[in-house]
Amino acid sequence: MAENGVRSRVKCRIGFVGTGGVATRHARFVATFDDAEIVAVIDLDHDRAATFAHAHGGRAVPDVAALIDAGVDAVYVCVPPYAHGEAERALADAGVALFVEKPLALDVPTAQQISDRIAAAGVVSRVGHHWRCAEPVRGARDLLAGRTVRQVSGYWLDKVPPVPWWTDRARSGGPLVEQAVHVLDLARVLVGEVDEVYALSAGPPQGGTTDVATSGVLRFACGAVGTVSTTCALAGKLRAGLEIVADGLVVGIGEDRLHVGDGISTRRRRFDPAIARRAADREFLDAVRGDGSPPAPLGLPDHAEALRSHRLACALATSVGTRVPEEAR
Ligand SMILES: NC(=O)c1ccc[n+]([C@@H]2O[C@H](COP(=O)([O-])OP(=O)(O)OC[C@H]3O[C@@H](n4cnc5c(N)ncnc54)[C@H](O)[C@@H]3O)[C@@H](O)[C@H]2O)c1
Repeated sequence: MAENGVRSRVKCRIGFVGTGGVATRHARFVATFDDAEIVAVIDLDHDRAATFAHAHGGRAVPDVAALIDAGVDAVYVCVPPYAHGEAERALADAGVALFVEKPLALDVPTAQQISDRIAAAGVVSRVGHHWRCAEPVRGARDLLAGRTVRQVSGYWLDKVPPVPWWTDRARSGGPLVEQAVHVLDLARVLVGEVDEVYALSAGPPQGGTTDVATSGVLRFACGAVGTVSTTCALAGKLRAGLEIVADGLVVGIGEDRLHVGDGISTRRRRFDPAIARRAADREFLDAVRGDGSPPAPLGLPDHAEALRSHRLACALATSVGTRVPEEAR
């Protein structure tokens, strides 16, 4: 089993599939750990992979088989939503631990198939819902403990992200699946499962085929109601996060902020988002080197747990098309 080998080895051998924006972020954090080294990377754009390897270590190799031959213990899968599946399946079958970036795929069947393969192979998996590792989320969980949540408002109000595939819903899955899944994942962690959703779209932005704005309604199993809104119509990122209302209390959570109030006064704290992002990479590495214990609720989810958030996001995206309420789990 690969895990025993990793535990006894000084450095964990890391690979990358996809060497774009988020891969670069992970590579910078991996470089700060003295028990990990990047050994091999691949990208459809081989020059990009070569530049990445030059900057962060390892070598650019042609395909997943070569990545496995390079003796990787763990691989970050940092491809766009439409490109998930082949790499995860081959790597899991080879006993390699996986860090998979969200969203898990464009749809539920593909993500489910990957999850099943990971479970059958018994490899460690974690998914990039790193907000779960952030201090504001821990704070919100403590503040909400023992209280009845009544209402949740989630939002991702932003510009069009600077990647070529994003405005094409057939490649990105649309903003509910591609971006709002972070917020939906937190809503699940802090409030519980969602049973039913309904969502509408304001149509595509200029020159694109995805939704310029969406608004969804959520019915939580605990009795709370919620909304989630996305837009890419702005010039920059205005806000992404959640507001949760319980009796006599409102908690606002973002990747870098926690607000708590009662409607009259509000206390606000800011946090450095790099701390949770680095902690997430450390947590993955510890899981790869560890004893196979399941992830903690406020740590990175494994693939099977992240699939529940993906299913919820996909139910909202489906409702945009069907224009009827959809079951969310
Ligand atoms: N967790 C987070 O906070 C976070 C932040 C940013 C991006 N992401 C997610 O990470 C994913 C990638 O985003 P990005 O900004 O890095 O995109 P990107 O376009 O910058 O990089 C993706 C790279 O994958 C490569 N690629 C595509 N298909 C491939 C394949 N089959 N095999 C190998 N390489 C392939 C592309 O050539 C490209 O270099 C997206 O799903 C995005 O939502 C997550």
